[in-house]
Amino acid sequence: MEKKNIEWAELGFGYMKTDYRFVSHYQNGAWDEGVLTEDANVVINECAGVLQYAQTVFEGMKAYTTADGRIVTFRPDLNGERMEQSAVRLEMPVYPKEEFVKAVLKTIKANEAYVPPYGSGATLYVRPYLFGSNPVIGVKPADEYQFRVFTTPVGPYFKGGVKPLTIRISDFDRAAPNGTGHIKAGLNYAMSLYAIVDAHKQGYDENMYLDAATRTKVEETGGANFLFVTKDGKVVTPKSDSILPSITRRSLMQVAREYLGLEAQEREVYVEELADFAECGLCGTAAVISPVGKIVDHGKEICLPSGMSEMGPVTKKLYDTLTGIQMGTIKAPKGWVVEV
Ligand code: PLP
Ligand code: COI
Repeated sequence: MEKKNIEWAELGFGYMKTDYRFVSHYQNGAWDEGVLTEDANVVINECAGVLQYAQTVFEGMKAYTTADGRIVTFRPDLNGERMEQSAVRLEMPVYPKEEFVKAVLKTIKANEAYVPPYGSGATLYVRPYLFGSNPVIGVKPADEYQFRVFTTPVGPYFKGGVKPLTIRISDFDRAAPNGTGHIKAGLNYAMSLYAIVDAHKQGYDENMYLDAATRTKVEETGGANFLFVTKDGKVVTPKSDSILPSITRRSLMQVAREYLGLEAQEREVYVEELADFAECGLCGTAAVISPVGKIVDHGKEICLPSGMSEMGPVTKKLYDTLTGIQMGTIKAPKGWVVEV
């Protein structure tokens, strides 16, 4: 199979149309088998549930070329499971996780020519999504749905690659207690757009959201969970019911313990303690681990000792181990790396 002629190393995090996408329809209470199609457009009624009441959930995954030339993806079963949970919370029919994994593998395989080569710094981003497609005007769930998967080759999520980021504590809230912060629903991202555009205007790379009830605890950013490293080398990640249960974060906690022999804690993290940490990073499929150099709390600068020029040493070890597992140079725990 011949690769497409793409400047892989120049890619940013953007959309590029690839050859095939998967689509399955839900009608009369059942999903059809689904097909690969070359048509990248979705045609739906003007009154579709997704357009009027934002009934849509999605996932984000990546396909990698390993050092020995295989194409793999990372823990797709967990994305399938999370999409089931997202669907339930928005009253959508579950697309079964076993079928989800099959559809993802099939779509990656069909777009093999777009999977960036090993060492290029790029990956193939995979976007499964599910939405209400029939007309709905009273506020209620749709009766018909589409599950789709498309792919797009991507480079780093943040411009500048692994250069430490400057983030601010946001006065906007991302998620309410008992709300939808723990699922991957489009609505959580629509409501974050005002805050991210404003953050960029003010010169920040991202927002740090706090818990909406007390505004004393760290939650996450618009698209990634937080990891902190204490001065005595413990890895700490915020525990909250209103953040997305990041698969990257869950994997990194296991990597910290089992590969690096570090203590790793999931616990409440208070704004008050931010100045005590040695390192901070954002973790997620798109972000991988992006180091944070500075957190600004209403004008007060909290400068992480790891500085503004490179990743902190523990963050770097976590990054190297995780990407080594994903690219096949470090032995993966059973079931983490799935060959396409
Ligand atoms: N938090 C939010 C809000 C996200 O959008 C993402 C991205 O998927 C993450 C965290 C990271 O999750 P994962 O590691 O499963 O990609
Ligand atoms: C991902 O990391 O896959 C996401 O969905 C986050 C999004 C901000 C791109």
